Amino acid sequence: MSKNVSENKNDSIKESGEGKTRLKLAIQKSGRLAEESKELLDKCGISFNKSKDQLFCAAQNFPLDVFFVRDDDIPAFVASKVCQVGIVGQNVLNEENILSRNQKLRMVEEILPLGFGRCRLSLAVPHGFEYQGPHSLQGKIIATSYQGILSHYIAQQNIGAEIVDMRGSVEIAPRIGMADAICDLVSSGATLAVNGLKEVETIFQSEAVLIRSPDITAQQNDILNRLITRITGVMQAQSSKYIMLHCPVERVEQIRRVIPGCDSPTILALQGRSDTVAVHAVCNEGIFWETMEQLKSQGASDILVLPIEKMLD
Ligand code: PRP
Ligand code: ZN
Repeated sequence: MSKNVSENKNDSIKESGEGKTRLKLAIQKSGRLAEESKELLDKCGISFNKSKDQLFCAAQNFPLDVFFVRDDDIPAFVASKVCQVGIVGQNVLNEENILSRNQKLRMVEEILPLGFGRCRLSLAVPHGFEYQGPHSLQGKIIATSYQGILSHYIAQQNIGAEIVDMRGSVEIAPRIGMADAICDLVSSGATLAVNGLKEVETIFQSEAVLIRSPDITAQQNDILNRLITRITGVMQAQSSKYIMLHCPVERVEQIRRVIPGCDSPTILALQGRSDTVAVHAVCNEGIFWETMEQLKSQGASDILVLPIEKMLD
């Protein structure tokens, strides 16, 4: 990292007090959220050289230190103020918060959904199990790594079921006779399918979120706000498109109404053509082929749809 020290001059927030002028972020070391968490930082223009097995890494061009840890440990890293922020699945956050509440420990706060790592926590049973609703689990054994969320659910449903706490490979529990049902994360459903299980109840929908500790310094709060602005910009850009097309002058109004999520497009004159103009607009949602066909049928031509890399309102 020393070779990049000169890049630090880009920092508008200068180092002064011990560590207080940098923000510490915990992200997953490996697993479902790891790659996309790193990608998000990359899209925010934050770069760091991480070698394999490194636990900690200082960003070169932003006052951020990144810790690479097990996802289940992220809420505790933030609650104990080792890190001020973290990126974690709501499934893990919720589970850890339930356990912390039960033990009267500090809980962490969710500040921003990040739109990736979507999955659900579901109940699943073997194909032969005649499931007719949550009451079918009365007196049964359910294996899970989400004891907190599951206990809460079975209490809510008024079911008397026994929970077997497992750290991993929950899906094999019914086959080896350890449990009658499981409660585990499902994303594509492939794991359930290969283990002869059917999903019967969704308990919780989850995605990756940014979390923060309640006490951070004013300087760290400034850095956090800069980070949030960049993340929001990246997310906005990802869901937006830039559209350019040509259209007859008299059809501008009809065309504008077809462009999704656009109020005031830019209208530009075309060299040597008084009957046609160019229309440019930022659409705050995706543009499907159907929309393009509709634009064409309204008289538009030369339609181009482009991705947007960055956005700052
Ligand atoms: C989860 C879950 C399943 C798998 C489901 O594990 O425990 O094994 O993902 O995904 P699928 O529906 O696409 O097959 P995860 O990768 O989160 O690992 P972890 O539970 O050990 O953190
Ligand atoms: Zn995990």
